[in-house]
Amino acid sequence: MNRRDFNLTLLTGVAASAAGSALAGSAPDDALRPDLTRYITQDVSVGGKIIRVRAFEGLPTVAKAVEPAYQALNLYIPEAYFQGGSVGGFNARTAPIFLPNGVGGYMPAKPGTLVNRMPGPPGQADTPSASAVALARGFVVASPGARGRTLQAVDGSWTGKAPAAIVDLKAAVRWLRHNADRLPGNVDRIISNGTSAGGALSALLGASGNHPDYEADLRVLGAASASDDIFAVSAFCPITNLAHADDAYEWQFEGQREFRNIAISMLDFRVQRKEVIGQLNEDQVALSAEMRRAFVAYVNTLGLKAPDGTPLTLEPNGRGHLRDHIAALLQSSAQQALSEGRNLSDVAWLRVQGDRVQSVDFSAYARAVGRMKAQPAFDGFSLETGENQLFGDARIDKRHFTAFSLRHSTVTGATLADAFTVKSMDAMQQLLDASSKVSSHWRIRHGSVDRDTSLAVPTLLAAAARQRGAAVDLALPWGRPHSGDYELDSLFNWAEAAVRDSA
Ligand code: DHB
Repeated sequence: MNRRDFNLTLLTGVAASAAGSALAGSAPDDALRPDLTRYITQDVSVGGKIIRVRAFEGLPTVAKAVEPAYQALNLYIPEAYFQGGSVGGFNARTAPIFLPNGVGGYMPAKPGTLVNRMPGPPGQADTPSASAVALARGFVVASPGARGRTLQAVDGSWTGKAPAAIVDLKAAVRWLRHNADRLPGNVDRIISNGTSAGGALSALLGASGNHPDYEADLRVLGAASASDDIFAVSAFCPITNLAHADDAYEWQFEGQREFRNIAISMLDFRVQRKEVIGQLNEDQVALSAEMRRAFVAYVNTLGLKAPDGTPLTLEPNGRGHLRDHIAALLQSSAQQALSEGRNLSDVAWLRVQGDRVQSVDFSAYARAVGRMKAQPAFDGFSLETGENQLFGDARIDKRHFTAFSLRHSTVTGATLADAFTVKSMDAMQQLLDASSKVSSHWRIRHGSVDRDTSLAVPTLLAAAARQRGAAVDLALPWGRPHSGDYELDSLFNWAEAAVRDSA
């Protein structure tokens, strides 16, 4: 890539030309040039270190926004990069760009602002935000907004249905490339981050780089003409592979009738959850068996492998290599906790001898964590889930997205989202389609007690990214529920190692 060294002279020149083009003002790309004279100065403090940053907020990422408050970017850049200085070993030319999306529950998300600290778990201290840590380590932070499932225009049409959110994130990446020679930060080192639905979008961004399927939508919005592939993906508990996540859920929670239902339309990792105990009835138990068989058949078509080359297959009874591989991931998680001094003696599904975790009983694990969602977990028969609402269209609020749930639908006149839309929202299908440019580095975390989706979902995602040649770091951190942005030192150590690895 042809990049000029960043300096102040260049900045001044660009500010002038941006003003000039605003006067000329017709080409869509002109609207996508930031006014670099308009910023506020903020101080970020992390671990006693204070970083002064320039905050450029509410930058429009497309020329013809449908929802301007969401199709925008907040950009935070260490002041040092405007003065020829360096932070954490990076400078204006080399600094990676951290791209955290704030999406939860497939709801609309405005561009994230720079909060220094996030509230910790109940009773525990606040922690620095991921963006604050990124800046302290010398990353540029670009926080994009994205449309979501509940947005509606004044005429009543829906404006944030699938695939709006991923299109908006791609537009933000294109905006960064479009402005690469005017702004500090290295656009060859964009590292996306998100949690849950946001984790799914982060993975999807890394899985679908430059895929032509999004081109028409991006064009209509007046996105910059630039590539939208990204360097690396950080995904916490990605709620992805929605076309098969229902079957994966039944596979994991085989035979469990009791579930702790949540008000599903409200699901979002940031919202406090109210649980109500429910029971699957006889019909649902029979359907569950059918779905488990469907999952086995699906897994066996994928041809994916574990890092050691073992084929990730399943036997008709649901056991087999994929299950063993997930059990091994749980075992490493437990081993790490044990080595850090945790007492695991009351964990019934582990066999521990001395300082070694010997084995994991996966069925006992699934019983112990317990199923959380009703059946099906994602494509509700009465269109009751957030995902049903995600897959609406401009005129229809809620649709099914699997043929199975359409067949069993209890809603008169319910319809099915088309396969193209479902695929364009799915990191897994994008990884299996060779026409995208895939991120070279992936870090996936799914807490060991997170029941929002089956552990098979992140595991297959990791295997598919690996199959596309990516270096993938997958772990199931011990005792973590459905949550994200934890172990930030480890996250940014990984990001920096990835950058070094490809320098
Ligand atoms: C989220 C959680 C879910 O269980 C789900 O189905 C979709 C999104 C979330 O926390 O973002």
